Amino acid sequence: MLEPNYLTESEFHDSSSLSNEIEEGLLADSASISPKFLYDILGSHLFTAITLLPEYYPTKTEKDILNTYQSQIADSLGLGKGLIDLGAGNCQKAESLFKSLDISSYIAIDFSIDYLKEILPQLQNKYPKIRMYGIGMDFSHQFQLPSSISTLDTNFFYPGSSIGNFTPIEAQHFLKQVKLQTHNAGLLIGVDLMKDDTVLMDAYDDPLKLTAAFNLNILRSINAQIGANFDVTHFKHTIKINHKLQRVELYLEALQNTTVNWSTGERSFRKGELIHTENSHKYSMQSIKELLSACGFNSFETWTDSKNYFALIYAI
Ligand code: AVJ
Repeated sequence: MLEPNYLTESEFHDSSSLSNEIEEGLLADSASISPKFLYDILGSHLFTAITLLPEYYPTKTEKDILNTYQSQIADSLGLGKGLIDLGAGNCQKAESLFKSLDISSYIAIDFSIDYLKEILPQLQNKYPKIRMYGIGMDFSHQFQLPSSISTLDTNFFYPGSSIGNFTPIEAQHFLKQVKLQTHNAGLLIGVDLMKDDTVLMDAYDDPLKLTAAFNLNILRSINAQIGANFDVTHFKHTIKINHKLQRVELYLEALQNTTVNWSTGERSFRKGELIHTENSHKYSMQSIKELLSACGFNSFETWTDSKNYFALIYAI
């Protein structure tokens, strides 16, 4: 059986301590947990379930755009190249490009190497001619691919509006590092556009409560990462729409006074106190182009859906 190659970050980077980052966030006056910790194995599955919800428009809309414009997209990206998938998850969006782009190699990067190891073997068997790599990597602070991965003739793919997890400043820091590694190819990026609050409310606080489960699961993920004892039943999922900063904010709100302990610390939360777990920034076509320009990209092709909910941009 054909096997993908796997790399985890600890093999090629000093692993900056995830535990320190978690503790720092928990001990801050306004507590926060980085959204990357949403994606343990269960969280990755829960996110895939969210993408199937009728209320969660981004995945469907992006998929429609990819389908509708597949030949134009292929003309822009070029045929026979490699594809680096940033935050690959279940790899479905990238797979939809394999044929039309005649991909030669596929490098799936995700915070959860465990999830990649579930997904990639089947994909490799389905596409035996494509060389596949799975890389477990945290690129939230620093993005540098291992030297064993060639980025020549390789496009980067950053779908799903995951860029929205970064503040615009953080996004610039990240995209500048991407730009330095794109060489003679470019970046195909999916970006969620600004829209009515009601659409956002339904998408981020869905009636089946999948998003609530996804958000609450971050506490279990943290329990596993630092040996903490968060009680999930002491918190509830809540969202805010921040118009000034053009983003949806996810929080976990303490339902009662509660204390969490781990080996080197503890934190008490008062009833009603919030833990900030995620930002999901929304852009306008103009604001995302400005951001990309500030990162060194200077040529853009853009595609959107009929409702203008979502944009796909190829930037070089
Ligand atoms: C994967 C970051 C794009 O912001 O829409 C979905 C994550 N959070 N529902 C998003 C998410 C709550 C998602 N991204």
